Amino acid sequence: SAAGKAGHDHYMHKEIHEQPTALRQAISGRVDDLAGNASLNIDLDDGFLQTIDEIHIAACGTSYHAGLYAKELIEPLVDISVRVDLASEYEVYDGHNTQDTLVVAVTQSGETADTLSAIRRAKASGMTTFAVTNTVGSTITREVDDSLFIKAGPEIGVAATKTFVSQVTALALFATYLGRLRGTISADEGADILEDIRQLPSAVQAILDEEAQIRRLAAQYSDSKAFFFIGRGLAQPVALESALKLKEISYAHAEGFAAGELKHGPLALVTENTPVLAFLNQSAAPEETRNNVKEVESRGAPVIGLATDGADESFCKHTIDIPELGRLEPLVANVALQLFAYHVANEMGRPIDKPRNLAKSVTVG
Ligand code: G6P
Repeated sequence: SAAGKAGHDHYMHKEIHEQPTALRQAISGRVDDLAGNASLNIDLDDGFLQTIDEIHIAACGTSYHAGLYAKELIEPLVDISVRVDLASEYEVYDGHNTQDTLVVAVTQSGETADTLSAIRRAKASGMTTFAVTNTVGSTITREVDDSLFIKAGPEIGVAATKTFVSQVTALALFATYLGRLRGTISADEGADILEDIRQLPSAVQAILDEEAQIRRLAAQYSDSKAFFFIGRGLAQPVALESALKLKEISYAHAEGFAAGELKHGPLALVTENTPVLAFLNQSAAPEETRNNVKEVESRGAPVIGLATDGADESFCKHTIDIPELGRLEPLVANVALQLFAYHVANEMGRPIDKPRNLAKSVTVG
């Protein structure tokens, strides 16, 4: 209903705009400044979390991209290896050290069949399981050893927006918690990460305030042949997620690539009719990505750069300024591309909240 959409044309638009509030809910009461730590009420045994030597993350769709972002956060902060699998591909091999592995399911709904069956395989092989979810009382919460709630509030649009940003935020809190518990980060380092987390709602608001610019760019390029998204490190999962968002709701051909992989194949697809959206965040090796931008520009592709506020990226045809926010800057840039996807799809007259062939929650395997 129109009332449910609170004046927005679509739930997706409403939910994009709810993100500062959703993030405040995800963070509220979970930051302990004095200790430089996240307070998360984790029930898993401290001794277990101190001695695990591997984390597996299993998830589908947008939640898989949140898992990839979490890997980029957890590995350097916690000094542990993180394997991220699509839940439908997750398998445990004989001989795997199941005692020292934590398996994390990331699932907005807590009802995705593929993710539930991955968790069941993990449990059957004796592993400890954990869920990061938006849904209290969901099936997954009844099956795992412990859950962390992302507190995003209900999401109705089929295309996940606020739940992605809240999942990554909850996982950043979890990374901080693990790093402090295992002594791989100091209280000062923990406090720095938490400070970035605390800045997220206002950084996201700054992007929402630039919607008019993003809408103009979307209108200018909505009839393009294809759209490519490139990024490195923390921005690579966001490139994948931004492409998924655009293809889900606009039906346009959109692909995300690791920027360094462009020259190994995707460059063959680049023409003057394929806009390239490039993440140039300080935290994502901007120098190297600048070189990739020049490669696509020399093939005539229009480039929209997502760049740290104040950086001179005048070689890009267009630039969207992203507030500087360390490891979380690509997450903020993602919000700009949620708006881009929304406005491209809206220009094309697509049924944004209910794209053809897709369901909010896929409960069959
Ligand atoms: C469906 C939805 C996606 C979602 C995926 C995983 O395919 O259309 O938007 O990312 O399921 O959902 P989950 O609830 O497990 O996060």
